[in-house]
Amino acid sequence: MHATREALLHQLSAAAGELSGERLAHMLGISRTAVWKHVHALQAEGLDIRAERGRGYCLYDDVLVASLLGERLAGRRIGCRCLVMPEVDSTNSELMRMATDVACAAADGTVLLAERQTRGRGRLQRNWLTTAGHSLAMSVLLRPPLAPTEVAQLPLLTAVAVQQALQPFAQLSIKWPNDILYEGRKLAGILTEMRAEPGAVHAVVVGIGINVRPPEGGWPAELAAIAGDLSSAAGRTIRRMDVASAVLLRLDALYREYLEHGFDVVREAWWQAHAACGKPVRVHQGTGYVDGIAEALDADGALLLRTGSGLTRVVAGDLELRESI
Ligand code: BTN
Repeated sequence: MHATREALLHQLSAAAGELSGERLAHMLGISRTAVWKHVHALQAEGLDIRAERGRGYCLYDDVLVASLLGERLAGRRIGCRCLVMPEVDSTNSELMRMATDVACAAADGTVLLAERQTRGRGRLQRNWLTTAGHSLAMSVLLRPPLAPTEVAQLPLLTAVAVQQALQPFAQLSIKWPNDILYEGRKLAGILTEMRAEPGAVHAVVVGIGINVRPPEGGWPAELAAIAGDLSSAAGRTIRRMDVASAVLLRLDALYREYLEHGFDVVREAWWQAHAACGKPVRVHQGTGYVDGIAEALDADGALLLRTGSGLTRVVAGDLELRESI
């Protein structure tokens, strides 16, 4: 029953248009009446599936389907196992539990997506809003052959992968360290967490949050001036499955390149996409800030600022683009 439900959603979602009852019956190896019954069950769950006379069934909701994502990522390290959960506290927390739980010991490349996060987390202990049906909350488990100090390169690599993957939808830039912006508004963020001991990394969870459409009823007041979404940037409605597969495919390719050739390729691409290269910036740190010209990215992810007192390394904070120092 569950397998047929998943297979039906997979086909309807992959089609992005109508599929006749006959064709679906053939694809799933069941009768047309059984297709009809399963469609009714999905409709009863609240899914918007319409039967168009003479043309077939069409899924209007933007549903996350694990098997479809797995199919699109077939043969890659990232996506070797894809999971979708209706609700978790945080995909990062859940995937880290799966990675460190001895009985489960989730594999390198496992991907977890969730419709809702009850405690989505952002950088610097902030909350991250995930609205069901509108945003993409996904985490990727990596077990990289890196020293713990090199893991700081992974969020930068991920920012490049997200920026490059979404470039066909809209002209995006990166803001240090790993925010993805469209016209100054943040539409994606990355949170990387690690379990390690001196000299050995056990698990890295790379969490990616992407606003694919604005929340119904609009952004909460505190985000209205700073948050953006990909569909508005692109000027058309984009499906979360297309965003997820594009980002994960690019992440897989870039990660492979990085493991083979090192950080330089990432650093160069990151710098090219950075909104502030060579520009005046202010980095807010708690109650203080540092002003300078963004001059380079260090191998550990620190931003090098040219300040009045020379070159200053900034390792954490919120970057603000400025007209002048
Ligand atoms: C940021 O503050 O910019 C980082 C936001 C990261 C949000 C994503 S959503 C999926 C994953 N699960 C979380 O709890 N956080 C990350």
